[in-house]
Formats: sequence, structure tokens, C-alpha cells
Amino acid sequence: MMRDMSMHIMDICQNSIKAQARHIKISVVEDAARDIFSFTITDDGCGMSPELLKKVRDPFTTSRTTRKVGLGIPMLEQTCQQCGGRLELESEVGKGTTLTAIMGFHSIDRPPMGDIGASLLAMIIPNENEGFELVYEHKRSGKTFLLDTAELKAALDGVPMSEPSVMQWISGFIKEGLDELYID
Ligand SMILES: Nc1ncnc2c1ncn2[C@@H]1O[C@H](COP(=O)(O)OP(=O)(O)OP(=O)(O)O)[C@@H](O)[C@H]1O
Ligand SMILES: [Mg+2]
Repeated sequence: MMRDMSMHIMDICQNSIKAQARHIKISVVEDAARDIFSFTITDDGCGMSPELLKKVRDPFTTSRTTRKVGLGIPMLEQTCQQCGGRLELESEVGKGTTLTAIMGFHSIDRPPMGDIGASLLAMIIPNENEGFELVYEHKRSGKTFLLDTAELKAALDGVPMSEPSVMQWISGFIKEGLDELYID
């Protein structure tokens, strides 16, 4: 099964949400000159014990109850390795987790970005009333795109993000912001 980058990112964020995270920060860095593509996802969820952290790259490690394999982390690690990179994980119980996926920028196996806007909306909208905040930061060729749900909520002044016109505006904001990054 071929996953694009936005699906990988969403998978990892779903882990953070399952871990009761209140804050998620996604930071994407594209550095063609240094041949590095990376994303880091930091959460303040329940964290993992050293024992769990040691075996989490194994597909048979999961806290899922509906099936016996957890694939999010192993599949992402496989993608990183296929692209000449690696997966780094740091976690502390009660503090949270930081995951960094590193890939070769120029690797032909590097998955396309996919629909980041749709993935972000799918995480933000269902969690908007849960005191949940997400920051998405994307750097490319000296430019930065930033989306911060806390800022967005303040600007919306009580209008729900699930309002169709608001959702449409957010998705346009993300699309235009990312398009801007890719203009060289
Ligand atoms: N951010 C996190 N915080 C706390 N625990 C985590 C986090 N990410 C992963 N884990 C733990 O690692 C396990 C494996 O994660 P992985 O994404 O590989 O599989 P899964 O989430 O169990 O299943 P799938 O991703 O296929 O739905 C999770 O079940 C969870 O126990
Ligand atoms: Mg998962």
C-alpha cells in the first residue's frame, strides 16, 4: 500500500490524539541543498515507557484492541529507510513524544506530499471543542508557512471552524500558503 506524506503525518498525529495530546506540533523541513526532507511531530500526550519505546518499531507492538498489529510507525520507518533516511523517536511517560522522520530530499522513493490541507482539517475539526491545539509549520527554500489553531480560533472569535464557509477558508489558506512555498 502506497502512502503519501500527508497520510503518514496523519497516522502519527492519530497516535498523539489517542495518547490524549492537547498540543501537537508538526514541523516539516525541505532542504534540497542538504538533501534532507524531514518532519517532526511533537505531542504532550501520555508518552511511552522505555520498554514500549524499544519495541514500537515492531509491527506486533500495538495498544489497539481491534487488531493485533500496529502499522503506523513501522510503515513510516520503512519509508524513511527506503529513502536513505531514518526514524527517530523520543518519549517520556507523562511528558510526551517527539518523532522525527528523515528522508533524502532527492530520493526517487520519497512519497509525494499529498493533500496536507485535507489531512490537517480532518484532525482539527473533530477536536476543535476539546481544548486541542495544533501547529503546522512548513519550511522550504528560506520560506515558512505557519498554521496555528489557537491563532485561528482567536481570529474567528467564536465562529466554529466546522462552519462550512470557515472550513473552506482554512483549506484555501493552507493551499495558498503551501503553493507559495513551492514558487522558487
Ligand atoms: N505519540 C504517542 N504517544 C504514546 N504512545 C504512542 C505514540 N505513538 C505510538 N504509541 C504507542 O505505540 C503503539 C504503536 O503505534 P503504531 O502507530 O505503530 O500502531 P497503532 O497506532 O497501534 O496502530 P495503527 O497505526 O496501525 O492504527 C501504539 O499502539 C501506542 O501504544
Ligand atoms: Mg498508529
